[in-house]
Amino acid sequence: MIVSTTAGFEALIIDGQRVAASDGGTFEVYDPSTGDVLATVAKATKADVRRAVQSARAALESKAWAGITPAERGRLLFRMAQAIRDRAEELSTLESRDNGKPLRQARADVQVAARYFEFFAGIADKIMGNTIPLGPGFLDYTIREPIGVSAQIIPWNYPIQIGARGVAPALAAGCTVVLKPAEDAPMTALRLGEIALTCGLPPGVLNVVPGMGPEAGAALASDPDINQLTFTGSVEVGTLVAKMAAVNIVPVVMELGGKSPNIVFADADLELAVQGVANAIFQNAGQTCSAGSRLLVERQVHDAVLARLVSKAKSMRVGPGGSDPDMGPIISKRQLETIEGYVKIGAVEGARIAVGGSRPEDPSLSRGFYYSPTLLDDVAPQMRVAQEEIFGPVLAIISFDELDEAADLANRSQYGLVAGIWTRDINKALSLAARIKAGQVYINTYGAGGGVELPFGGYKKSGYGREKGLEALASYTQLKNVCVKFA
Ligand code: NAI
Ligand code: MG
Repeated sequence: MIVSTTAGFEALIIDGQRVAASDGGTFEVYDPSTGDVLATVAKATKADVRRAVQSARAALESKAWAGITPAERGRLLFRMAQAIRDRAEELSTLESRDNGKPLRQARADVQVAARYFEFFAGIADKIMGNTIPLGPGFLDYTIREPIGVSAQIIPWNYPIQIGARGVAPALAAGCTVVLKPAEDAPMTALRLGEIALTCGLPPGVLNVVPGMGPEAGAALASDPDINQLTFTGSVEVGTLVAKMAAVNIVPVVMELGGKSPNIVFADADLELAVQGVANAIFQNAGQTCSAGSRLLVERQVHDAVLARLVSKAKSMRVGPGGSDPDMGPIISKRQLETIEGYVKIGAVEGARIAVGGSRPEDPSLSRGFYYSPTLLDDVAPQMRVAQEEIFGPVLAIISFDELDEAADLANRSQYGLVAGIWTRDINKALSLAARIKAGQVYINTYGAGGGVELPFGGYKKSGYGREKGLEALASYTQLKNVCVKFA
């Protein structure tokens, strides 16, 4: 059934049409700042996902998509970047309501999303191959062809940013996409699908199928007609979807989060370091795959750093995303309870709650899912709060005495996504950067404001494959070698 725009109802986007779910099913999306219902969203069934994949398959081979020049593909993506910028305020407000994040964070996310389309628009006509010298009588060349239908399953923490991160390079490479947003925050991913249509992308090039993980997500990951899968989320679900894709020999990009350390030496600019450390854990209420959720601090500055962090945490205003606070709510009651559970575990393990460790007392916040900025001090490296991803505004603080110990602590994790190093000593910084097992290392900075240009991905259980930057294209292309013998 094709539906028209109704306030409060969000349809699936399949083959260029806004459609209800095949069984009419819906689910409700909540504003985590208030607990109020934000929208009712069509809940994609297995059959809907199947249809979306078929539509993406047809679009992949179509004249309207496969038949246009790479330059024209680039122009369509530039148009998407512009449309996102034109609608920035509307998209930011929606992202803030859907996820709960502070408005200025949502605004930054929307700009980063536009930047992804711009960055990959510019590369659409520069995806080149090589010629390989075989000697007289031979011409050998390689071509990077689109890998095909890209399935993308994204989380709720940065929907428009992570949506754009996967969709833009896939489209630039000439792929078509079926995007499955997270059930907790699907709104701006749906807007991306609409924007694609208003910008003139052919029907089926970008399909958006919100739904439940075990139903729509599993149907997508196991569909025999996808050619590639990009997943961002938990290790647990990543393992499941990788197995589903493996049955069809479908390659996967896995972005599974981490327990990323910020390593602060006594010789660092402490003001700068503390600002970086606080931002890395409290941004998005700690619900960030690359959150700096461990602080490794040289013992002689431990007290000084802790005092500054405590005063920062105490001064942060926690409140509804729309009021643009320093920190918004947690995405859901379930996630809030997970965080509370971890802080209890930490206390039982012997960590000391230096600040926070509870929901805020402000009664005006009682309907939302808020948690106070929390610092766990005296954490030992083997504790669960030092090892497991909490995905909330909770920093685990561990002291060290020398560089070798810092390197060992940094790597004593099943994860390896990002690390931050804070020191004025270039030798220390570079020798530690060389030893750290993580996909990105930052020195005297952290996160680089979106880092659209910088290859991003995990070592160890943080995942594999690289998104962002030119490296991302490797996932969305496949290489063909053509060997010619001539007389
Ligand atoms: P999740 O891994 O369950 O969800 C991520 C995506 O996978 C969502 O779109 C979801 O619908 C989908 N999904 C869930 N079950 C599926 C299945 N059986 N088959 C196919 N797709 C499925 O993450 P969740 O439950 O929202 O959060 C749990 C924990 O995961 C968090 O506490 C955090 O530690 C981690 N996480 C990490 C993220 C990252 O950015 N790396 C993002 C979100 C969560
Ligand atoms: Mg889950």
